Amino acid sequence: MGILSQLSVIHLLWAAMVFCQYEDYDFEDEYEEPDHQQPYYFNPNTQAEVPRFPFPFECARECFCPPAFPLSMYCDHRKLKTIPNIPSHVQQLYLQNNDIEAVPAGPFTNVTFIREINLSHNKIKSHLIDHDVFAKLSNLVQLHLQHNELEEFPFPVPSSLERLLLGFNKISQLPGNGLEGLPNITMLDLCNNFLDDSVLKGKPFSNMKNLMQLNLCNNKLQTMPPDLPSSLMYLSLENNSISYIPENYFNRLPKIIALRMSHNNLQNIPRNTFNLPNLTELNLGHNKLKEVFYIPRSLQHLYIEGNDIESMLMVVTL
Ligand SMILES: *[C@@H]1O[C@H](CO)[C@@H](O)[C@H](O)[C@H]1NC(C)=O
Ligand SMILES: *[C@@H]1O[C@H](CO)[C@@H](O)[C@H](O)[C@H]1NC(C)=O
Ligand SMILES: *[C@@H]1O[C@H](CO)[C@@H](O)[C@H](O)[C@H]1NC(C)=O
Ligand SMILES: *[C@@H]1O[C@H](CO)[C@@H](O)[C@H](O)[C@H]1NC(C)=O
Ligand SMILES: *[C@@H]1O[C@H](CO)[C@@H](O)[C@H](O)[C@H]1NC(C)=O
Repeated sequence: MGILSQLSVIHLLWAAMVFCQYEDYDFEDEYEEPDHQQPYYFNPNTQAEVPRFPFPFECARECFCPPAFPLSMYCDHRKLKTIPNIPSHVQQLYLQNNDIEAVPAGPFTNVTFIREINLSHNKIKSHLIDHDVFAKLSNLVQLHLQHNELEEFPFPVPSSLERLLLGFNKISQLPGNGLEGLPNITMLDLCNNFLDDSVLKGKPFSNMKNLMQLNLCNNKLQTMPPDLPSSLMYLSLENNSISYIPENYFNRLPKIIALRMSHNNLQNIPRNTFNLPNLTELNLGHNKLKEVFYIPRSLQHLYIEGNDIESMLMVVTL
């Protein structure tokens, strides 16, 4: 028995332990970083930032502005068909779960300080979004547009943006260089759209120098997105049709912590692919893997169920 295979046996025990720990893995959960559960700016006591406004704060008739959170306006779950006029002091606007189809500029006329808009679970269509309506909101850091009827990326968006959620739409195109002016974006969610390899030609993500999390699950990609920024830590590509990982693909992504690629067509992975010092979660379930590959010692959660690999012996630590 060669040294390498003895090592494999030793590491099998370790890998098996890793596999057991995997039980707490929840396929459905989002990669929300704990820090972002309560965004740092979501602080009702930030009135210092707001110029003097006459009390009481205005509130749209259709909405609720809780006295304890005077900078937030809640208009969610109200069967609204249009966006109400937004008072100028509002920083957080909750419009999720309505029947809104259009985003015209009118209601945003007086808005200056807005930092967060939740328009998820509506019926917004790309051609009914006024050009520049979002781009003008120069303090916007978080925009939720998931579960709408968007066919295109809602370009242009303001360069202040840090988190953009576009999952569960019908987006099949990304603006050629439209994603360039987003230096501060840390999280981009494009899961559950109609993206295929044609969108990757323009290398849409390469200029997002602070991007930490990119979600592209449930699309129609056949290749790994090229030129991802080296800041990336969480990459979600599950349920596409990706058949290979190019040699040295992750060399330029040394910070990867979690990689989710279940439900693809991966067959052979170059052995040293996952030479990633900080990788703690690797999900390769439901592919067509046959051969040995190395996993780093940092790994805590490994999922390789539903492959042709017959035994955990095949996985060896790096
Ligand atoms: C903007 O502010 C002006 C002056 O307070 C007000 O008359 C107007 O109705 C506001 N527009 C919107 C869309 O809120
Ligand atoms: C936005 O709305 C969705 C419902 O569509 C909700 O799950 C989410 O917590 C909201 N997020 C924020 C930051 O308001
Ligand atoms: C990006 O973030 C930095 C630090 O928070 C901030 O100073 C800068 O103004 C932001 N850039 C834009 C375009 O908002
Ligand atoms: C994979 O994505 C398709 C849409 O592209 C969806 O219908 C299907 O339910 C997804 N499958 C899994 C296992 O998530
Ligand atoms: C890995 O994580 C450690 C601790 O968080 C950090 O100091 C180090 O820079 C990370 N390595 C890379 C390549 O990102």
